[in-house]
Amino acid sequence: LVKRAFSSTSCRHTIKNVTVIGGGLMGSGIAQIAAQSGNQVTLVEVNPELLKKAETSIVTNLSRVAKKVYKDDTAAIQKYVEEAKSRIQGSTNPSTAVSDADLVVEAIVENLEVKHKLFKALDEAAPAKTLFASNTSSLSIGEIASVVNRKDRFGGLHFFNPVPVMKLLEIVKIPEQSEETYQAFLAWGKSVGKTCVTCKDTPGFIVNRLLVPYLAEAIRMLERGDASPRDIDTAMKLGAGHPMGPVELADYVGHDTTNSILEGWHKKYPDNPLFVPCDSTKELVRQKKLGVKTGEGYYKYN
Ligand code: CAA
Ligand code: NAD
Repeated sequence: LVKRAFSSTSCRHTIKNVTVIGGGLMGSGIAQIAAQSGNQVTLVEVNPELLKKAETSIVTNLSRVAKKVYKDDTAAIQKYVEEAKSRIQGSTNPSTAVSDADLVVEAIVENLEVKHKLFKALDEAAPAKTLFASNTSSLSIGEIASVVNRKDRFGGLHFFNPVPVMKLLEIVKIPEQSEETYQAFLAWGKSVGKTCVTCKDTPGFIVNRLLVPYLAEAIRMLERGDASPRDIDTAMKLGAGHPMGPVELADYVGHDTTNSILEGWHKKYPDNPLFVPCDSTKELVRQKKLGVKTGEGYYKYN
């Protein structure tokens, strides 16, 4: 009955309560912008220590946003940060965290089996009204959704790093997704300050399908010795107007992330030369030099 009421075209789905699963780089940013925009947010992590880490990062980044708006008005900055922070509660129990959610955004580890396990449990625990979304960078939304019964209420909501700064949100459709779900995603994306684009469920959606092969081509260029990392980056910043060059951007995104994206696509589409993983990146991953987050990648960071 509830499902039928939700499907009715006269009933618009308003998103107020948002549960974000995974409080890492992306999930903490998604929780932050949702809270900034007035949503009640529940942020789920695997343990209290990681919840604390996410909270610290959210407070730091909320302060950066508030400083832009309120300049030197420290009282206004503090009020803004406190109010947004008060809308976020932490949890280590995904099933109870979705009990009154209008929307769940999953931002956990990029692994299909782990995402399946989570969504199966969430599908049983969440009420019928709850929409499900994954922030996956490279996995198929349809494959992630295959384990849930609510495929009409499922889609991709793909944010970009750093979430509070990057203005884009990709809304990924799957054939079963209802128009009402799509409209609710669109309205929510706009309400959290993003410009939304819509696309089909193909590898990398729009941005990563173009960006990841571009980063790999830049790395192949430096592997061949055609130009130094610094010169490749300077060239793309000054010659193509990019805010970061491809080598520094690869360091920023993280070599574990780009390498696992390419490895996944290469396994699935072995004949596509654009998806071949890079040897030097694989070696950096082996050495745990993952880029900015570990202090070293193709460049060194203090
Ligand atoms: N939270 C809030 N504000 C932040 C922030 C954060 N996490 N990170 C940066 N900012 C703000 C800063 O406060 C600063 O604000 P002001 O301009 O008002 O001072 C502004 O952003 C710029 O930051 P910085 O001065 O520190 O540095 P910058 O000018 O070099 O910009 C950047 C940093 C925004 C990251 C810029 O270099 C950039 O746009 N780089 C490209 C990033 C990109 O391409 N991201 C997409 C990666 S791909 C992806 O995410 C998809 C995937 O699936 C892998
Ligand atoms: P991350 O490693 O920084 O964060 C993932 C967090 O999820 C970790 O803190 C981990 O403890 C937590 N987690 C893992 N399993 C969990 C579970 N079952 N329940 C609750 N929490 C759990 O990763 P990230 O970079 O934030 O990426 C998260 C997702 O977002 C991935 O699917 C990734 O492909 C996607 N994504 C990443 C980027 C990027 O630039 N890093 C950009 C867009 C999308």
